[in-house]
Amino acid sequence: MNYPVWDVPILGSAWVIGAIASFHVLVSHFAIGGGFYLPMAERKALREGRADWLEVIKSHSRFFMVLTAAFGTVTGVGIWFAIGLGSSEGTSTLIHNFVFGWAIEYTFFLIEVTSAMVYYYTWGRVSDRMHLTIGWIYAGSAWLSLVIINGILTFMLTPGSAWLAVAGTGEEASRFWQAFFNPTYFPSLLLRTCICITLAGIWAFITMSRIDGARQPQLKTDVMRWTAKWLIPSFVLLPLCFAWYLYSIPEASRGLLELGVKTMGQGVFTQVTRAALVTVITSATICVIVYLLAWRSALDFKFGHACALLLLAMAATASTEYTREMLRKPYVINQHMFSNGTRKSQVDAFNRDGYLTRSPWVRPEERALWQSGDSADPKVQAAHMARGELMFRGQCMSCHTVDGYRSMRRFLETRDRQAIGNILTVLHEYKDDSPYKKFMPPLTGLPEEITALGDYLNQLVHGADAKKAPAPAPVVPVPAAK
Ligand code: HEC
Repeated sequence: MNYPVWDVPILGSAWVIGAIASFHVLVSHFAIGGGFYLPMAERKALREGRADWLEVIKSHSRFFMVLTAAFGTVTGVGIWFAIGLGSSEGTSTLIHNFVFGWAIEYTFFLIEVTSAMVYYYTWGRVSDRMHLTIGWIYAGSAWLSLVIINGILTFMLTPGSAWLAVAGTGEEASRFWQAFFNPTYFPSLLLRTCICITLAGIWAFITMSRIDGARQPQLKTDVMRWTAKWLIPSFVLLPLCFAWYLYSIPEASRGLLELGVKTMGQGVFTQVTRAALVTVITSATICVIVYLLAWRSALDFKFGHACALLLLAMAATASTEYTREMLRKPYVINQHMFSNGTRKSQVDAFNRDGYLTRSPWVRPEERALWQSGDSADPKVQAAHMARGELMFRGQCMSCHTVDGYRSMRRFLETRDRQAIGNILTVLHEYKDDSPYKKFMPPLTGLPEEITALGDYLNQLVHGADAKKAPAPAPVVPVPAAK
């Protein structure tokens, strides 16, 4: 409740984060995998004395530099803006816990960007050995930035018992290393490294497909086949890493996936399972295309084919990241903070003292109106609705929009005030058998606040339609704000 709510109509703030993140993942993982591809290709070409190949690598390194240094950086900063606005409370927790982690990350990042530039601009200007060394410095620093960020990313799904034991006490920083090397740290690092290597190959096809096969048939065949080989190790390792990863995630999250797979025949997919399936199908398709086109008929491999592969890779990475995010729902930091910024430890206090009681976003005169018992007064009515809206913005809007993604209007259209009230009661009671518990946080607050939310939602969905929308419940006076 300490931060304002970012209202993104139709799309919702979560999708803005998701869209920027999908693109960023595609480019940033390429920045790491490509970091290894370049010096390895260069070393091979140098050893075999292939000047024509070196020429292609140089042109790929320009593409690489522009893409990673420009788009990679801009989308990286974009993520900061988006998560800062869309998930402020969660971002604040990450910063407070990992400020030194991020400082180290930026150091590696600085070396990474600098050496990418130096690598490109020193082609033919320094000795071959020196140039290769610069390439390896780039590769090392890029991978080390993954080593760092991976700790922070995996922390959100599996903060680990040591950190959770002190969460909310102010002692969190004392568990930095336990939080960093959390249960999914190593499987995720290996998984992401595999993805980096695969993406290095897929992006390299973009440059390599443009070699004129009629003019330089030998070069194109060699380069295409060498690039295709980049996909082999990870396609063998990826399923294994994925299995290890699944083995390390919390029981409840894995259950969500298993449930979807077991009930697939009956068509009861969970969203997570659907997304995971997209990952599997797109990855398999990439495999087939690379074998049939890039390997078997390298000369016919066109720029369009490379772009199609890239689109598939984008679908695969986006659905993988989506799966990872969904596995964590309804939490932003598993078992600690819900997606709407409410901490698990705050739930009882919010139910006892009120969700909006300490909110800085309520004016004193509004509070006074809430406490008035005169529900016939239009001013009191308006304040009651505003109270419901604040509840909606604070507790629901991180995942729902009014009219677009997970639209409140669509979900509630067929429900009258009574039925809306029933859902809110289920969300508030948050019993173990509640079907919503898997993906929605508990609704917190005083009974009057929940009534206000129900009335607000009812008005939002049914407007002034009197038949569907019975008169709002009378405003109940509440105890004075503490
Ligand atoms: C952590 C994200 C999240 C938050 C926060 C959240 N929801 Fe949901 N909600 C979901 C998801 C996911 C679904 C399922 C969407 C689907 O089926 O497409 C859903 C579905 C619903 C549905 C439809 C359920 C049904 O059975 O038809 C309603 C109604 C709803 N939410 C109301 C709310 C209200 C009210 C709040 C705020 C108090 C809220 N949600 C907060 C994620 C969330």
